[in-house]
Amino acid sequence: MSIMVIKIGGSTVDAEGLLRELGQSIAQLGDDIFPIIVHGGGKDIAAHLSLLNREFTFIEGMRVTDAQMVKIVQMVLSGDVNKRIVNALLKESVNACGFSGVDSSLFTASKMLVNGKDIGFVGKIDKVNTSLIDFCKGAKLVPVISPVSRGEDGSIFNVNADLAASELATSIKADDLVFVSDVAGVMVNGEVLREIRTSEIEDLIAQGHITGGMIPKLRSAAESVHKGVKRIHICGWKDSQTLRNQINRVESTGTVISD
Ligand SMILES: Nc1ncnc2c1ncn2[C@@H]1O[C@H](COP(=O)(O)OP(=O)(O)OP(=O)(O)O)[C@@H](O)[C@H]1O
Ligand SMILES: [Mg+2]
Repeated sequence: MSIMVIKIGGSTVDAEGLLRELGQSIAQLGDDIFPIIVHGGGKDIAAHLSLLNREFTFIEGMRVTDAQMVKIVQMVLSGDVNKRIVNALLKESVNACGFSGVDSSLFTASKMLVNGKDIGFVGKIDKVNTSLIDFCKGAKLVPVISPVSRGEDGSIFNVNADLAASELATSIKADDLVFVSDVAGVMVNGEVLREIRTSEIEDLIAQGHITGGMIPKLRSAAESVHKGVKRIHICGWKDSQTLRNQINRVESTGTVISD
């Protein structure tokens, strides 16, 4: 059985129609693929923070997160967003089960410095305990994972969902890691690149072609390629055939990251 980690971003999570198609897409994968969903939710976090009149900033695509903000991130991602996805999958008869990096110490995190700067409770993942995922695989449950994680001392960290997806894909030796985002792929000069080699990524960032949330996505993709994940894709969502088409490279419109 092959393992497919699917990371879905904020805009997929936000659209009712897209979540329904995601459910259909997962239902169609069949018994030969074990799907694992990791989700972000940048847009939902932004909406909640603005309701609370809280300002926020990003450094290299990472959200600066203080003690109060990490609680909001946990409420939104591990609560509302996570259960919305589980609910959408259950509606399509996919037996899904939602939890976060905190549960069963799936992800143990520690503070991440960005350009040498402390940006609060933003974590990087040091350890992955896949026992809960292995359990889900045996029980034919589709895991839906919020990237919020736990430190050794019990503190809670906001972990970028791309990073979490990629650490998980590496640890469980996934065959495919698919990043579904709100863009058709990695764009340079208005065109989607069909393929990017890992050695090209830092130059594309330095030249300003890749900014914001695409930076952690590509850096974590590169790391996973180096650590043995076979196929990495960055794509947009088209319809319920998107996942199948992407892994079969039929009609693949996205970007593949290769070594
Ligand atoms: N070269 C590029 N090609 C495509 N998108 C890019 C590029 N450079 C920057 N971006 C930005 O990256 C964004 C995708 O990353 P973003 O973090 O916003 O979404 P996500 O990771 O899919 O969702 P979430 O952060 O909620 O998990 C795009 O919407 C686009 O604005
Ligand atoms: Mg992102």
